[in-house]
Amino acid sequence: MSKKLQDKVALVSGSGRGIGREIALKLASEGARVVINDLDADPAQQTVAEIIAAGGQAVACIGSVTEAGFADRFVKTALDTYGGLDIIVNNAGYTWDNVVQKMSDEQWEAMLAVHLTAPFRILRAASAFIREASRREADEDRVVHRKVVNISSTSGVYGNAGQANYAAAKAGINGLTKAMAKEWGRYKVNVNSVAFGLIKPA
Ligand SMILES: NC(=O)c1ccc[n+]([C@@H]2O[C@H](COP(=O)([O-])OP(=O)(O)OC[C@H]3O[C@@H](n4cnc5c(N)ncnc54)[C@H](O)[C@@H]3O)[C@@H](O)[C@H]2O)c1
Repeated sequence: MSKKLQDKVALVSGSGRGIGREIALKLASEGARVVINDLDADPAQQTVAEIIAAGGQAVACIGSVTEAGFADRFVKTALDTYGGLDIIVNNAGYTWDNVVQKMSDEQWEAMLAVHLTAPFRILRAASAFIREASRREADEDRVVHRKVVNISSTSGVYGNAGQANYAAAKAGINGLTKAMAKEWGRYKVNVNSVAFGLIKPA
C-alpha cells in the first residue's frame, strides 16, 4: 500500500535535532524524501542515517539558513536529488533572550535573520519551481497540492518578557505566512504557521 506522502519531496530546516528532526523522521516514515539541514553537520548526518536505516530516503544540506546563497542551495538540493519539491518546513532557530534595555542590535538582528529573513529567502528561492510546476500540472489537468509549514511560537502571538527579538520575529513569520497563503493559493500551496508553547525534549 502506498504511503500518505509517497514520493513527495520535503525540505526541513534545522532538522539535525529537536522538533525539526522529529518532523523529518515523521515525514520520511510517511514516504517523503527529505532534505535535512542543520548548522551542524554531525546531527544532520545522523538524521539522514536514521531515515535511511528505516528504509526511507534523505540527503543532507549543511549550513546556516542565514548564509547568503543558502536558500538557493537548499532548494537546488531537492530539485537536483529528487526532481521536485512539495513540502517546506521552516523550523531552524534558537533563542537569544534579554530584557530590552540589555538587548544589543546584534541580538535583535540575529533573531530576525534566522526566524524571519531565512524563511522568506527559502520561499522566494522555491517560487520559480512552484509557479512553473503548478502551471505545468494545470496544463496536464492534474491537481497537486503543496505545503509550507512555518514554525512560529506562542511568544509571537502573545509576546513574552525577555524575548522582544524572538517575539517580533515569530510574529513576523505569521504575517509572512498570511501573505504567502494569499499569494500562493492560486498555485495550490497551503501555507500555514504553527505557534506552539514550550516543548520538552524527548
Ligand atoms: N522547543 C520549544 O519549546 C519551542 C516552542 C515554540 C517554538 N519553537 C521553535 O521550534 C523550532 C525548533 O526548536 P527546537 O526546540 O527543536 O530547537 P533545537 O535547538 O532542539 O533544534 C533546532 C535545530 O536547529 C539548528 N539551527 C539553529 N540555527 C540554525 C541555523 N541558523 N541554520 C540551520 N540550523 C540551525 C540547531 O543546530 C538545532 O539542531 C524553532 O524555530 C523554535 O523557535 C520551539
